[in-house]
Amino acid sequence: MEYFASSDIPAVLEYTKNFYFLDDNEFSVIEKDNISFFNKKLNIIYKNYKTIDLNYSSSTKNGYDNFMLKEIFEQPRAIIDTIDKYISSENQRSQWCNSQVGIDENNNSTILNYPSIFNKQFAFPDFDLTKDDLIIIRQIYIVACGTAMHAGLVGKNIIEKLCKIPTYVEIASEFRYQDPIINENTLCIFISQSGETADTIAALKLAKGMGCKTIAITNVIGSSITREAHFSFYTYAGPEISVASTKAYTCQIALICCFAIYMAQILESSNYSILEEFRKELLSLPEKIHAILQNQEKIKDIAKQCYLQKDLFFLGRGIDYSVSLEGSLKLKEISYIHSEAYAAGELKHGPIALIENGVYVVGILTDTKLTLKTISNLQEVISRGAKTFVITNQKLPNINFDFVFTIPKTNVFLSPILSVIPLQLFSYYIAKEKGLDIDKPRNLAKSVTVE
Ligand code: M6R
Repeated sequence: MEYFASSDIPAVLEYTKNFYFLDDNEFSVIEKDNISFFNKKLNIIYKNYKTIDLNYSSSTKNGYDNFMLKEIFEQPRAIIDTIDKYISSENQRSQWCNSQVGIDENNNSTILNYPSIFNKQFAFPDFDLTKDDLIIIRQIYIVACGTAMHAGLVGKNIIEKLCKIPTYVEIASEFRYQDPIINENTLCIFISQSGETADTIAALKLAKGMGCKTIAITNVIGSSITREAHFSFYTYAGPEISVASTKAYTCQIALICCFAIYMAQILESSNYSILEEFRKELLSLPEKIHAILQNQEKIKDIAKQCYLQKDLFFLGRGIDYSVSLEGSLKLKEISYIHSEAYAAGELKHGPIALIENGVYVVGILTDTKLTLKTISNLQEVISRGAKTFVITNQKLPNINFDFVFTIPKTNVFLSPILSVIPLQLFSYYIAKEKGLDIDKPRNLAKSVTVE
């Protein structure tokens, strides 16, 4: 018998799938053939191990140069696995499970092969709030940090659209020191890939103490956040090793969408055809991501032309602004290029002063209602000498953008799951051109377990 002590599951997945989880103020004594657990009063406590259903290969690079690239390419599979866990019928599940994603040795791309089946019903069996419990919810807070908070911004739009409940997104490190108005009519959702982020956990404890119901959305089974929240929903992205979060973001949005559809059904807050449209689009996303990934060479070429930039700007409106924030964060954390994301309409209120000859501006245009507005902002930067890289799902008027990357169409509320893919690749290939340590960028840690 062998025992290992580790602070993270992937570190020892090569040797075991059975894990004991220590809570705060607990410790264990490992002897040759025995393991025992104690609390801080030195009383013995009994624990059962949990079997973690992950492959060792999911925590290796599996032929990719970096974990980040591997994780970007894993997104179609990660989303399928996440959605699959919240589909009610075993029958339907097995159809997904027959699908396959792997690396094509020749071109490093993902092979995707799964049946497209619609008409799925989402189910959250561990979430035992009834219609009577949900009908009294007057507001929802989504609280998180960094990329998880950016997923929350997209989630807010989906929840408000489908459930018609006002939803506020808060940065955990701010929320925990505010005096939020929370009571039993509030639902608080905390998103954390690692489930160990100190600020997010502190915010959860604060909210729980104020009497609301709490939900944790995390990628790590047994993580600290799951021991605090009333309900825990897992993304099944597999271990995310690269410090820069990619597949967790898309899976978090997909999961929130499943949950919003589920709640909307209970609350009868959206009509059937709208929910059907969301469900159908959600299920089509893995294939669409796959199509974008097949086109990665184009992004690589664009990255080669701007990796020496000192500053880069991201512009978008509405949901495209939310994803701009994520694109900008990704770029700064792995390429060390200064970048800012602005709601395009804010440009005139100050940021346009930063635009000068040769500066790069990335525009995201997926919301047809807002396309012409954002185009007009992009024209303003072009006329001041900026170079433009546009990510869109539409045929655009004839304007002299320097680069245009087209992504498949989808429901506008879900479009960040697609538009973020070229943004992730863009950051990745810029950092690669600069020869940086992509998986372990300077000054950053994967889990921020201190304030
Ligand atoms: O584990 P968490 O999702 O709670 O982490 C939150 C942030 O620290 C994290 O998303 C961070 O912003 C990423 N490095 C971004 O890529």
